[in-house]
Amino acid sequence: MSPDMNITDPAYVAARAELDLLWARGTAFLGSRVAILGGAMSWVSERNLVSAISNAGGFGVIACGAMGPALLEAEIAATKALTDKPFGVNLITMHPKLDDLIKVCVAAGVTHVVLAGGVPSGSAMRALKDGGAKVIGFAPALVLGKRLMKLGADALVIEGSEAGGHIGPVSLTVLAQEVLPHLRDLPIFVAGGLGRGDAILGLLEMGAAGAQLGTRFAASTESVAHARFKQAFVRASARDALPSVQLDERFPVIPVRGLVNDGTKRFLVHQAETLRRFQSGELTKEAAQLDIEHFWAGSLRRAVVDGDIEGGSVMAGQSVGMVTSIQPIAEILEELVGQAVQALMRRQPQGAGTGLPQRVDAASPQAA
Ligand SMILES: Cc1cc2nc3c(=O)[nH]c(=O)nc-3n(C[C@H](O)[C@H](O)[C@H](O)COP(=O)(O)O)c2cc1C
Repeated sequence: MSPDMNITDPAYVAARAELDLLWARGTAFLGSRVAILGGAMSWVSERNLVSAISNAGGFGVIACGAMGPALLEAEIAATKALTDKPFGVNLITMHPKLDDLIKVCVAAGVTHVVLAGGVPSGSAMRALKDGGAKVIGFAPALVLGKRLMKLGADALVIEGSEAGGHIGPVSLTVLAQEVLPHLRDLPIFVAGGLGRGDAILGLLEMGAAGAQLGTRFAASTESVAHARFKQAFVRASARDALPSVQLDERFPVIPVRGLVNDGTKRFLVHQAETLRRFQSGELTKEAAQLDIEHFWAGSLRRAVVDGDIEGGSVMAGQSVGMVTSIQPIAEILEELVGQAVQALMRRQPQGAGTGLPQRVDAASPQAA
């Protein structure tokens, strides 16, 4: 929030009430004061960050990532010890122990589960819903959103290619236009490249129920990411956060957006070398594909936990350009809400909510 904003100003109060109305479906669904989810980030979204987001009025989400059931159980319990506010758990659908992870969530009474990494099976969806959890699916296209809804998803996240981490091919600007006007039956949260409250406001007005942000929260004071990882975010601009590059169409590379570094450059050399070994007959196609896939194994952990920001994978969204300092979570959320409220206030007719007579434009119908 801007320091010169007076939250007792009737104009502010009116605009804040309007914002609360715009994202009422999102706050009701999440049970939070503010309809902003802290998108799950492997190695980053653990007990401290998740509880900080929920305690500040947002909705934190634990990233299960590659954790096994015992570790997830411990992380949920530790998060509950730090907050009595609602939070969720993000599970990756291709995790080999997905069924056990679902059992852990149900036994722990997790209220919201985000299923990422592909369309979930009907049985996974049923197990969660029968266990009392609300399920949030990832819909990178309208057709997938409809399919997830039929499968029983209670809400959706539509994430544009501006986002950090694994991405789809379509930007949020386009995805929002493709999905929001046509899917009104369930709450939809928008994600990817969001760093300001006024941008979130625009999407709420298009029909979004709320927003999901990752990058801005990864660089927060409460984030346990290594200091070098967070400083890299402060230094970077939007153009530094690029998707991984695939050299040959025969060897697909999963698109991941992150900061360009030595690792991303070496990945190109590694692909070229693997391609040469395949063409010379030294490697089978399968072996070459595995060799390419293994390049990044463990690399997000190296960057986040060990601070290896040159060799590791520094996943970040284009929103990284809007990270200008390391801020406490409460300040980030206040800033986002403040920007949305200010944008609404700028639209209020002069004098509205101040007890002063309102200006009537000569061209407006009231002037007639
Ligand atoms: C470092 C990092 C790790 C991420 N890991 C995951 C993950 O494990 N699961 C997931 O569903 N999304 C993951 N994401 C995506 C976020 O949940 C979120 O949707 C995304 O960051 C939103 O875009 P933004 O970064 O522009 O705010 C990750 C993003 C970042 C930056």
